[in-house]
Amino acid sequence: MTELVSYRTEFDSIQSCHYLISNSLGAMPNRATALTKEYNEIWSNRGVRAWDEAWWNLPREIGNKIAAVVGASEDTITMQPNVTSAQATILSCFDIKPERNKIVMVDGEFPSLKYLYTRWTEGEAEVQFVVSDDGISVPMQKLLDAIDETTLLVPISHVLFRSSTIVDAAAIIEKAHSVGAKVVLDIYQSIGAVPVDLGALGVDFAVGGLLKWMCGGPGACFLYVRPDLAKELTPRFTGWLAHENPFGFEAPPMRYSEGSYKFLNGTPAIPSLYSCQAGLEIITEVGVEKIRKRSIDLTTHLMKAAAERDWPTFAPKDSSERGGTVALNLPDAENIAKRLSAYDYLVDFRPGAGIRVSPHFYNKFQELDDLVEQIEYIISRNWD
Ligand SMILES: Cc1ncc(COP(=O)(O)O)c(C=O)c1O
Repeated sequence: MTELVSYRTEFDSIQSCHYLISNSLGAMPNRATALTKEYNEIWSNRGVRAWDEAWWNLPREIGNKIAAVVGASEDTITMQPNVTSAQATILSCFDIKPERNKIVMVDGEFPSLKYLYTRWTEGEAEVQFVVSDDGISVPMQKLLDAIDETTLLVPISHVLFRSSTIVDAAAIIEKAHSVGAKVVLDIYQSIGAVPVDLGALGVDFAVGGLLKWMCGGPGACFLYVRPDLAKELTPRFTGWLAHENPFGFEAPPMRYSEGSYKFLNGTPAIPSLYSCQAGLEIITEVGVEKIRKRSIDLTTHLMKAAAERDWPTFAPKDSSERGGTVALNLPDAENIAKRLSAYDYLVDFRPGAGIRVSPHFYNKFQELDDLVEQIEYIISRNWD
């Protein structure tokens, strides 16, 4: 594992702090600086010619690089500014009919998606939230039972953002497909930390972003549509980049292009598509299987330290069910998290979960020991 720790030299951003927050924003790799410079130079030297020479195909090129990480085929992934708009694109593909008007979600889903699905479908669909008894585990039987012949969509995170619980995506997809429902798998909290194989899963849609475990910076999110479905669907949330002849500036009706660009809309966020390539390259080099192994060792180490101190944790105890994050659900966690930040321990606080700690492949066990010691010190000072 020294091989993984040797990647620390690739990250100046982690040298003067304990960077333990990949669940939120992954650390910036040094290689991103050169890519940002490259973008600036092309913009400056080539001006508008940059579209033809370098920029127009970028969403497809980056999509194909992501596809290689998540087991998808070429030209099935397109870039999006964020996951909420990627899911809006999916929603816009469907007419909600009374006989198939149910959307099934879990209560541990990321709030932005709960807001989107409830508001978008208001008056037309019933959004059913399946509630977890302990807030951590996913009640699989209840969830599978909720998916029936009236279900249109099941939007579900592969790894839940608050508890880091890994969801059994294969079982959900199997049930959904058996009743004619479709699954939107949000792999934001798994890509780069937990292996994902979209092709093997046969999932209908997947969304995610490179800003967390892929160390890619904000603005580089993506949408996968299974190739056979991509042929059938026509998103209403669309724009000129999705047109078969974008530079024809034709009047409607819309004529969609084929492949991933069918699901684009307006002008992509090109600067983000430059900087995100650094993390993508590094994670591809390191390999997600290796990262997962290291991640399990790191989170197990932290779980053990917490258990030894009787600190409550908000994460599955079984490492095979746990993603890359362990939340320490300590009394006064919010204040402790603020103090930690003042000491350059980069973690965050989420109500109901506590202090979320997300070590990545470049973190050392010593950093987790330092964190535990620092928390003990903060608790012992009993401020306020
Ligand atoms: C699972 C999951 N989905 C979505 C998001 C955010 O979505 P968006 O890109 O729309 O901000 C997050 C952010 O933390 C997340 O953890």
